[in-house]
Amino acid sequence: MKFDGAGIAITGSGSATPQAVVQNDDLSQLVETSDDWIRTRTGIRNRHLLEEGGSLSELAATAATRAIASAHLQPEDIDLVLLATSTPDDLFGSAAKVQHLIGARNAVAFDLTAACSGFVFGLVTAAQYLRTGAFQNVVVIGADILSRWVDWGDRTTCVLFGDGAGAVVCQRDEVDQLLGFEMYSDGSQNHCLNLSYQANPKYLVHDLTIQKGEYQAVTMNGREVYRFAVAKVPEVVEKTLFRSEIGVDDIDWLILHQANQRIIDAVAKRLKLPAEKVIANLHEYGNTSAASIPLALDEAIQAGKIKVGQTIVTSGFGAGLSWGCAIFRWGKS
Ligand code: UT7
Repeated sequence: MKFDGAGIAITGSGSATPQAVVQNDDLSQLVETSDDWIRTRTGIRNRHLLEEGGSLSELAATAATRAIASAHLQPEDIDLVLLATSTPDDLFGSAAKVQHLIGARNAVAFDLTAACSGFVFGLVTAAQYLRTGAFQNVVVIGADILSRWVDWGDRTTCVLFGDGAGAVVCQRDEVDQLLGFEMYSDGSQNHCLNLSYQANPKYLVHDLTIQKGEYQAVTMNGREVYRFAVAKVPEVVEKTLFRSEIGVDDIDWLILHQANQRIIDAVAKRLKLPAEKVIANLHEYGNTSAASIPLALDEAIQAGKIKVGQTIVTSGFGAGLSWGCAIFRWGKS
């Protein structure tokens, strides 16, 4: 997508993961599974889970604070705190709490819910505010604590997820480093992946019965979501490359939502992208939903793999169903 005028630069990154690590073998004490099944079907070996006393807001705040420091900004410089999460501490939203925790006293803050596409959707949302000049500095956080919502007796889901947070700082800049994006939703497939509310109707007064109830554990039709991912992700990446007017050879790094190593490998193969250009860390963290892309991005930046000016293709996909791709260059030119 060609964009004339002011644009955005992604200038800082940070992440945070809980200390407690649960290995595949630990899970075979809970459900009928094995390290071999989990590794070969998903690539996951460990996941980090938030212990009692921790909160989504604190994990997100730690990632955001690190991202702001890495951009050489102060918390007061931030105009918007955008928190992509499906697992807030508070259904009214946790972004304002994060804003307070990080000391971003000049920022407005709100949550954005788009499950595993949340970070990509958040990044694109931030770009709109920056391109219009409404804001100068935005911190986009992807954070989730799915361990709160997984049924730890359901082997088809509990082995997949982990907890974590990742964040980037986006700044208004003369040169636009967001080269292109695409975003999609298909609510007709909504039933494939849910963390849904179930009403347990309660008679209140007169003839009125209200929808008192509670949220259920994560449910997923894994095969359907797998099929969706391997079909839609290469397609959305190819469309975004076309809109960005760059080719596969121009990609320095591919960072997909970390759901399954087999999905990552299949997409890279379809794009004819060599394995050396693919960043993956799901062996250590599992699927951390909205956190997975910024967590992998930050680790690769900290490790010195990703260098300023390099082109990164990210794609998130999951519940909604939703999917999207954003292509950007890291840092200021
Ligand atoms: O973050 C949002 C996006 N999410 C995704 O992209 C996830 C997409 N889906 C997947 O990654 C894969 O479908 C899974 C990893 C969830 C499952 O892998 P699969 O190769 O599609 O397995 P399956 O669901 O076809 O199940 C194969 C067998 C079944 O047994 P039968 O029916 O063949 O006897 C399952 O009951 O594996 C069984 N199974 C397990 N066995 C041991 C399912 N979960 C487990 C388990 N341990 N944890």
